[in-house]
Amino acid sequence: MTTFYIMTLFPEMVEQGLKTSIIGRAVEKEILRIEAVNIRDYTTNKHGKVDDYPYGGGAGMVMQAQPIYDAYQAIVDRIGRRPRTIYLTPKGQTFHQGMAKEFALDEELVFLCGHYEGVDERVLEEIVTDYVSIGDYVLTGGELAAMVMVDAISRMVPGTLSNQESGETETFHNYLLEYPQYSRPEIWRDKKVPEVLLSGHHKNIEAWRLEQSIALTKKNRPDLYERYVEQEGVQHGRKQKADTGSR
Ligand code: ADE
Repeated sequence: MTTFYIMTLFPEMVEQGLKTSIIGRAVEKEILRIEAVNIRDYTTNKHGKVDDYPYGGGAGMVMQAQPIYDAYQAIVDRIGRRPRTIYLTPKGQTFHQGMAKEFALDEELVFLCGHYEGVDERVLEEIVTDYVSIGDYVLTGGELAAMVMVDAISRMVPGTLSNQESGETETFHNYLLEYPQYSRPEIWRDKKVPEVLLSGHHKNIEAWRLEQSIALTKKNRPDLYERYVEQEGVQHGRKQKADTGSR
């Protein structure tokens, strides 16, 4: 079982957002556990305050170290070790599928969602193992970013997806975007399903899909296409080497 601890000031947002669909089903099947930890529950301030003005001045408020550290420590005490702890921030490393696969290997993951203008640097130094951004834009808080990560990581945890939903031929596998899909009816608003897909000729269908994937990747994601070409070159090189070796 993989457990996600999400430290936040808005626990209901995370709980509501992650209880539907495939993630909700995996939680019910006890493949995943999602625990929203309300940082405010851990403040020692008698008015429930969790933020204060930044030293040195400037706009906005800063989330204070104490409630975050105590919330984190409560998780550590429960599981008996210091888990991988991800701070969601646009200053972090950009999230990608490879990271989702790697994070999915951990039994427990902690996510720290910041708000206001930031979080006291000292508590980050104490608890954070990974600084992660979900893209080059600024959100109002880390919650949506944590939910994006939990979703992408969850589907890499064995048992979350059914065999039918398996992630084998999907986008980013082999650095290619996925080919287009069609379902019934055969003609819709005068648009016909590509002939090859109706042919039953599996080799041709496979070739058509690869061709579509390559063209789409080249158009929409030239950066990814470059990596695909590189990787194909490497595989070819290896094959040739293997051939020479056997001779
Ligand atoms: N918090 C605010 N913006 C963010 C982003 N782009 N990624 C992760 N966390 C964030």
